[in-house]
Amino acid sequence: MKFFLDTADINDIKEAASWGAIQGVTTNPSLYARTGGKLADFHDHIKKICEIVDGPVSAETVAENRDDMVADGLELSKIAPNVVVKIPTTVEGLAATHTLSAKGVNVNMTLCFTVPQAILAARAGARYISPFIGRYDDISEDGIEHLSEIVQAINNYDFGHPVEIIAASIRSANHVTQAALMGVDIATVPFPVLEKMVNHPLTTNGLDRFMADWEKVKNA
Ligand code: E4P
Repeated sequence: MKFFLDTADINDIKEAASWGAIQGVTTNPSLYARTGGKLADFHDHIKKICEIVDGPVSAETVAENRDDMVADGLELSKIAPNVVVKIPTTVEGLAATHTLSAKGVNVNMTLCFTVPQAILAARAGARYISPFIGRYDDISEDGIEHLSEIVQAINNYDFGHPVEIIAASIRSANHVTQAALMGVDIATVPFPVLEKMVNHPLTTNGLDRFMADWEKVKNA
C-alpha cells in the first residue's frame, strides 16, 4: 500500500515527506481553503507541493461543466509533471475525464461511492479512483464494506490502462488497516491519522522501559 497525504498544508507535507512516509498528496478545495489560501495563489501552492513530493499530487477542478473542467484540467496539468487532475464522478466529470485521459492527462475521479460509478470512472480513462469511506460512516453506513465491493469489482476487469484505487475520506488508522487487508493500492490520510498510524501505547511504554533500564546500566 502506498500512502498519500490528504492535505494542502505545506508544513505537514514537508514533515511527512521527511519520514519517507508519503508517496503522493491529495488536495481538495476544502483542504486548500483550510490553509487560508487565495484563488490567485492556488497554482503556485500546487507547484510548491509538487516540488516537495516525489509522486502524484491531485489538484481538484472546481469547474461545473465538461468544457470548463477540460480547460481547467489542462491548465492544472501544466503546473508540474506529477499533477493529477481531480474530477468528481458526475456525468460532466466522466465526459471531462474521457477527454483529458485521451490527451494523456492523469485523472483521479473523486467522490466515488458505488461500484457502477467506479467502473464508469475506469472506463472513462481515470488513472485513479477515490472511493470515500468516512462519508458513508457519517451517514451510519459501512464505508469499508462499500470500499471492499469497489475493490473486488475493479479487480474483476482489465481496463486497458493502469487503474489504482485510492481509499479516501479516511478517518482512522483502523480504516487504513481494513483497506490494506483488502489490498487497496493507496490510502490517502490526513496528517493526524498518519501520526496515529505511527504511534502505539505499547511502543511508547516499551521505550519508557528501555530508557529506565538504561539508566540502571549507566549507574551500575
Ligand atoms: C481525498 O481525495 C478526499 O478529498 C478526502 O479524503 C475527503 O475527505 P473528507 O470526507 O474527510 O472530507
